[in-house]
Amino acid sequence: MMQEEAQTHPQKQMQHRYDGVSKVTGTAKYAAEFTEPFAKKELLYGYVVQSTIPSGTVASIDRTAAEHSSGVIAVMTPFNAPKLPTASGPAAPPARRSVTVLQNADVYYNGQPIAVVVARSLGEAQHAASLLKIRYAEQPAKLEFRKHLDEARMPKSAGKESPTNHRGDIVAGMAKATVVVDETYITPIQNHNPMEPHATIAWWEGDKLNVYDATQYISGSKQTLARQFQIPLDNVRVQCPNTGGGFGSKGSLWSHATLAAMAAKVVGKPVKVVLGREQMFGPVGARPSTVNHIKLGATADGKLVGIEQDVVISSSVMEDFVEHSAGVARMLYDSPTLRISEKMVDQNIGVGTFQRAPGEAPGTAVLEIAMDELAEKLKMDPLQLRLVNYAEKDPSHDRPWTSKHLREAYTQAADRFGWAKRNPQPGMMREGNKLIGYGMGTATYPANRSAAQAVVRILPGGRAFVGSGTQDLGTGMYTMMAQTCADGLGLDPSMVEVKLGDSTLPKAPVSGGSQSTASVTPAVQDAAMQAKLKLGELAIAQQASPLHGLKSGELKAQGGKLVHASGKSDTFAAILERAGNQPVEAMGSAEPGQDRDAYTSQSFGAVFAEVAVDVDTHMVQVRRVVATYDIGTLLNDKTGINQLQGGIVWGVGFALTEETVIDPVYGRVVNENLADYHVPVNADIGTLDVSVLNIPDTKFNPLGARGIGEIGITGAAAAVANAIYNATGKRVRNYPITPDKLMRA
Ligand code: MOS
Repeated sequence: MMQEEAQTHPQKQMQHRYDGVSKVTGTAKYAAEFTEPFAKKELLYGYVVQSTIPSGTVASIDRTAAEHSSGVIAVMTPFNAPKLPTASGPAAPPARRSVTVLQNADVYYNGQPIAVVVARSLGEAQHAASLLKIRYAEQPAKLEFRKHLDEARMPKSAGKESPTNHRGDIVAGMAKATVVVDETYITPIQNHNPMEPHATIAWWEGDKLNVYDATQYISGSKQTLARQFQIPLDNVRVQCPNTGGGFGSKGSLWSHATLAAMAAKVVGKPVKVVLGREQMFGPVGARPSTVNHIKLGATADGKLVGIEQDVVISSSVMEDFVEHSAGVARMLYDSPTLRISEKMVDQNIGVGTFQRAPGEAPGTAVLEIAMDELAEKLKMDPLQLRLVNYAEKDPSHDRPWTSKHLREAYTQAADRFGWAKRNPQPGMMREGNKLIGYGMGTATYPANRSAAQAVVRILPGGRAFVGSGTQDLGTGMYTMMAQTCADGLGLDPSMVEVKLGDSTLPKAPVSGGSQSTASVTPAVQDAAMQAKLKLGELAIAQQASPLHGLKSGELKAQGGKLVHASGKSDTFAAILERAGNQPVEAMGSAEPGQDRDAYTSQSFGAVFAEVAVDVDTHMVQVRRVVATYDIGTLLNDKTGINQLQGGIVWGVGFALTEETVIDPVYGRVVNENLADYHVPVNADIGTLDVSVLNIPDTKFNPLGARGIGEIGITGAAAAVANAIYNATGKRVRNYPITPDKLMRA
């Protein structure tokens, strides 16, 4: 057997979410809900005032009426706010999001924070905000991205990926093509819309800063705040026991959190800032729009001979965020030649940021329509075209995968879906006034992993505690920690208490890049093993223990006991009682292996969709999605499949409804609410049939488990788009595929 096929012993799965009861009964606390440790009447409310122009400066703010308004404690503006030490000093980092924390009067987008009113109640703060007399000096704004594509420039900094990537001789490659697809595909700006809005409660104890922060990254919040206020790292404590969704928008610390801490310092009391839903369209990031010119060349047998993708990305004038939508083209198919480019166009809009599968979500959405178009031109089955161009190794790095079983995923999902019944001729499947279509797309997302630490304690009485400074975004981290600790200690998961979301716990990475489970569970596994060994050492040294004199390494933990092959055993509780009822504590850590640059670790999936398109209204209904993923070991069916389903639902929203619309005159987001920014609701989603291959990737980590937070969204939008084409013969290359676009097509 190959090493990657070696079966890791399967964990006993926790059947219910660790935090399920607290979530459904409303006792799970989110950042904005804390009322301690300060006296409740001490807590003040900060309301963020936003600019109403897209570009220019704040000329003046008359605070008089606001300051005299009922309940108002303070009004912070660019003209009276405390200067942050980092914002002006010579060692200041390059001006980033901190420019929007009242350090100057510049306005870069409509909706930018320009003042904070602090009052005894939210209502009083909001009312006082309406009394501010704000004057602006306006400048012309750049607001129409797609009218300025010819101004595209290279990214100021491309991040980890090179903005251009060439493989082979693209001109020679394309010259061999007998069939070419050459089209432009567009994805819009999209906003994250987690259920829980961004929120921070901040209070100071001397020069120590405490925050409850709605975040995906408690140690990131800690580092940023320490840097902004120039205080020692350990003077900042960040707590976040529950995060109500983040999807990337809570991966960075935004202006409201800094403003809450500034306000708390100014008034000397705890200050709570919660963003309203409408305030989340601008100040906390969005997925940029991408315009993708794609050219695919193939020989008559379907073999790709060249891929070109030139991307133009909408950027904020404040800061570049490169949405790498050309990244997928580099690695998904085996083409001998490749040329990609990614450029930016400056706009007076809020900054771009990570959104579920940044790069891969739009990247698969556009490339997988182009592949569908290529298949049609070749008169080849779209699935067959993928198989002909299957990448046996990672073409972007020319190195092997740690594990790849996409072929099996294609086959399984196609069988369950009934792909063989698809009529390749569009418009041939009809039920009454509905046209039925089948479409497919490939899903992919890299497997990431970072160093993480955890602590495990075996407690008097035989229960256990596991802690790690990670986060649970609703993704299942509590459950995974309980399950992994229980597995390591041979306990039922109900015997394990979990703590996360506190920066005083051992450090864990950002819950982004689909890496938390893959990073944190190996650390928990290690900590549990160390704790078990320590408990064994204790027992073998105890005269009264049946295990006395045996070897700790020979003891197995099961059912609340340490057990030896000879049949001798002792309970955790008895061992600890003899030792004076002190907990046994062990730290664990895990980090990516030395040989990580020798391989690429990547997840894949096959997504098939069936749509029904109303011939009169052009409304699209997604009747069913069948998908199979190759994500390594599935550690928990409930939380894992749920993640994949959630990603697919978002893929349907990507395909059909989601778009952030910016007013071309004022620059305000027009649809800054959930009534106008359409995400799918339950009635929009038909049957979801999701499965995983469950083949461990033990070259990636000891549990064989790659992350699954993001791959679900990838490939899904294209599967829907391609199904719409199969139903109607109308190719819409501009997401979302709304009824008006279908009507005109
Ligand atoms: Mo994810 S967009 O990396 O939080």
